[in-house]
Amino acid sequence: MTVPPMLDVEDLVIRYPARGLFAARPKPAVNGASFRLAKGETLGIVGESGSGKTSLLRAILRLLPVESGAVRLEGQDWLALKGQALRRARQKIGVVSQNPFLSLSPRLTIADILAEPMLAQGDRQGAAMRKKIAGLLADCGLPADFLDRRARELSGGQAQRVAIARALALEPGLLILDEPTSALDVSVQAQILNLLADLKESRGLSMLFVTHNLKVVAHISDTLLVMRHGDVIEFGRTEEVLRAPAEAYTRELLSFGRNAAMA
Ligand SMILES: Nc1ncnc2c1ncn2[C@@H]1O[C@H](COP(=O)(O)OP(=O)(O)OP(=O)(O)O)[C@@H](O)[C@H]1O
Ligand SMILES: [Mg+2]
Repeated sequence: MTVPPMLDVEDLVIRYPARGLFAARPKPAVNGASFRLAKGETLGIVGESGSGKTSLLRAILRLLPVESGAVRLEGQDWLALKGQALRRARQKIGVVSQNPFLSLSPRLTIADILAEPMLAQGDRQGAAMRKKIAGLLADCGLPADFLDRRARELSGGQAQRVAIARALALEPGLLILDEPTSALDVSVQAQILNLLADLKESRGLSMLFVTHNLKVVAHISDTLLVMRHGDVIEFGRTEEVLRAPAEAYTRELLSFGRNAAMA
């Protein structure tokens, strides 16, 4: 039997509602996206601002309704899930956003932040949970004495490590990351990318990774999807897309990326 891909997206259309009763119907934010993400691989998603990257992620997270198309998660019809079944299945996906400080309560201790998802799914507080939390933190490169600190006392890089640890608390198979390094200092970005690469390896994670930075994509992605104005204009193995981009737009993006890297 063949293993189903982690994620299989087919002809996905996402459209925001019109702004008013007499407003024209907006064009789709995502206009028929199709791609696959294999288990244990990372898909990089790039494209200019407004091209539909975040909308695509939010629809996959079931935070936005889908107009048409199909999404299968490990072979399961993901868009058909509802209520309790959806809540349970959601644990398969961890989410990391751009700004860790917006997603971590500033006054909670790191231990409380990491316990939250486990408590919400009914795990009991105690020595076993504390041990699991310390393990998560260690896997994300922070020592155990951080457990009693508060989020507001952390640097950007430390806070993003905590956010990644929390995203992993329920042992998801898929991690969805929207610009996870773009709010960080350049020197810290590489450390976070290395951490993600280590976690992918040690936990067999699949990742959807949105970024503006083509150097980041080349470093971290097995496959690459390029979006423009809601369309997927390129999808393939990263090295092939970077070596022989089919679209003029991707070539432009690449030459811009090289210039930006040299600046
Ligand atoms: N809440 C919303 N309501 C209506 N339209 C929206 C909403 N969010 C995004 N859009 C529109 O959908 C399109 C895609 O936006 P999206 O945020 O997905 O782009 P993006 O690729 O993530 O951009 P960025 O790189 O700036 O984050 C844009 O035209 C945007 O104006
Ligand atoms: Mg976005």
